[in-house]
Amino acid sequence: MSYYEIQGGRPLGGTLAIHGAKNSVLPILAACLLAPGQSVIHNCPDLSDVSVTLDILRLLGCRADREGDTVLIDASALGRSDIPEHLMREMRSSVIFLGALLARLGTAELSYPGGCELGPRPIDLHLSALRTLGAEIWEEQGALCCCRGQGGLSGREICLSIPSVGATENIMLAACGCPGLTTVVGAAREPEIIDLQNFLRSLGAEVKGAGTPVIAIQGGASLHPAEYRVMGDRIAAATYLCGAAAAGGEVELTGVLPDHLTAVLTCLEEAGCTIHTGPDRIALAGGPSLRSISPVRTAPYPGFPTDAQAVLMAALAGGEGATLFVENIFDSRYRHVDELRRMGADIQVAGRAAMVSGVGRLHGAAVRSPDLRGGAALVVAALGAEGTTQVSGLRHIRRGYQALDKNLRALGADIREVP
Ligand code: UD1
Repeated sequence: MSYYEIQGGRPLGGTLAIHGAKNSVLPILAACLLAPGQSVIHNCPDLSDVSVTLDILRLLGCRADREGDTVLIDASALGRSDIPEHLMREMRSSVIFLGALLARLGTAELSYPGGCELGPRPIDLHLSALRTLGAEIWEEQGALCCCRGQGGLSGREICLSIPSVGATENIMLAACGCPGLTTVVGAAREPEIIDLQNFLRSLGAEVKGAGTPVIAIQGGASLHPAEYRVMGDRIAAATYLCGAAAAGGEVELTGVLPDHLTAVLTCLEEAGCTIHTGPDRIALAGGPSLRSISPVRTAPYPGFPTDAQAVLMAALAGGEGATLFVENIFDSRYRHVDELRRMGADIQVAGRAAMVSGVGRLHGAAVRSPDLRGGAALVVAALGAEGTTQVSGLRHIRRGYQALDKNLRALGADIREVP
């Protein structure tokens, strides 16, 4: 089983271009189904979640080719609407195909989705929204079947009780195929929703309001393929920044918008890092040691992102003083804590709260990635730790980070993959 071997304590330095956003590109690739013809997606990261998505598109009858960081999707020959369990199990966000298939073909059949184990991750909001738009949804032999109801699909108002990112995206895709006006009230406001809106507009869809709690989609128009560049990955950027904060040194990240990371940058500055930003770049200089900061409470955007909770915790665990974390989005999102403790971290968990008492410096250990962001957190911890850390469970990390080891090596880290 392969693992990363990391010699900690080497300050990072240099410039790194951040890859395209995983959480943008997945719904954008599903959205390619809406328009017959070939769409061209630039800045498409090479991640295992993207490979699974391309496999799903091929299985449905699309052509999907990669040329470097550009992916070409031709959805002209879309012929199937069922996604087998082995592909659905690979990735929870494949539920996004429900809305896209419903819009284009009026039918979809999926097994329940897999993905990171972050406690119960229901899809009730997705299903009730699609029913409101006129879909009939039922379960048959472990599969979720969905088709246009007798009255057909039509635009409606949908109120979300939680600003779910995935449900908002699924509704936006489905609504493109629903004649009339769909309004999503209580929509998620994440930057990835704006990226999806921009892509849908480039296909010719009438969508507005992304980035605010109310999104309006005028559906039913026929869409055409488009060429589009995916935004930079704010969570990958947060990971490299936390790595530099833990290890010390100075790094500059390009291809990422500082506005997308305000909550994370505020925490890193409070912890003693110096940050400078330009229109699409962020530079961070780490201090000698990180200090404790005000409580970090995860929240929907623009609050502190749950996806950056583990990497910031890993950095602060090797700093000084006590910081309280409160995880408000997912249950079971402290699975990295036991692994960080193997590296000497002092972290007490009580329900949604975790009290991190900085120990000055962590030490190397053999640890295992519990999930995608938890795995990245172990790498961050290892960069600042004394001695050698082996991080296994790389399949989790590869879901969301392209060439993490190579990029960190380019920044001066001592990290290698042991096959
Ligand atoms: C997306 C991101 C993920 C990120 C999360 C929160 C993608 C591919 N993934 O996940 O990286 O951590 O947003 O920013 O973009 N919920 C329900 N019922 C539903 C749907 C969600 O109760 O039908 C709950 C969830 O259990 C969770 C909360 O809503 O507690 C937020 O989940 P959601 O925003 O939907 O996350 P994802 O779209 O799955």
